[in-house]
Amino acid sequence: MSDLLTPRPAGWHPPALAPDYKSSRLRSPQNKPLHMPTGPAELAGPTFGHDLIGPNDHNMIINYTGEMAIGSRLIVHGRVQDEDGQPVTGALIEAWQANAGGRYRHKNEGYLAPLDPNFGGCGRTITDDQGHYRFLTIQPGAYPWPNGPNSWRPAHIHFSLFGHSFAQRLITQMYFEGDPLISLCPIVQAIPSEQAVKTLVARLDMDANTPMDSIAYRFDMTLRGRDQTHFETKPEGS
Ligand SMILES: [Fe+2]
Repeated sequence: MSDLLTPRPAGWHPPALAPDYKSSRLRSPQNKPLHMPTGPAELAGPTFGHDLIGPNDHNMIINYTGEMAIGSRLIVHGRVQDEDGQPVTGALIEAWQANAGGRYRHKNEGYLAPLDPNFGGCGRTITDDQGHYRFLTIQPGAYPWPNGPNSWRPAHIHFSLFGHSFAQRLITQMYFEGDPLISLCPIVQAIPSEQAVKTLVARLDMDANTPMDSIAYRFDMTLRGRDQTHFETKPEGS
């Protein structure tokens, strides 16, 4: 089945060591990675119950306390698809982000921007039978980080996608079209391909706005082919 896969473009992902992204200096592996074959235990599903998703889990504006979070109201929506453009249905998508001031609700967060008592910063949903997803949230703020003397993260939302098992997981970040901090961010700039960076930038989608309520951005996510699992379970070199 592996010959059905489109090869992953060379240079698409950042190198493990990108010195301008300071954390990568210590995090990047010093030794050759080990091959960990995926077995039936990792591929067996389901990994979660779809009935565990609550009606407001996708709505980060109100899902923390029931009261509205502070910030510009956003719709973030899109389609999860495989490399052939087929929808990936039933995929669990988790999202997390800073609040409108650029602060996370996390015990290790030290930025001086205040917490919003009504914003937790986490949401989740499941793609529908067309591969679509939709979150309601607030515009996250940019925030400084201790990479260099004046490093700022562009506004972004983190996403985790699960396929049909825990072994099928993608983690990525979404940025906002037109943000001048994108081209200044050492994490973004560690990605060697300009085309790959573009896939991380959500587009303003005025047609999907809720008038007098929320502005919309569209962010589609494309995974490798449906046969990827078979490919990875094949013995190396075969
Ligand atoms: Fe972040």
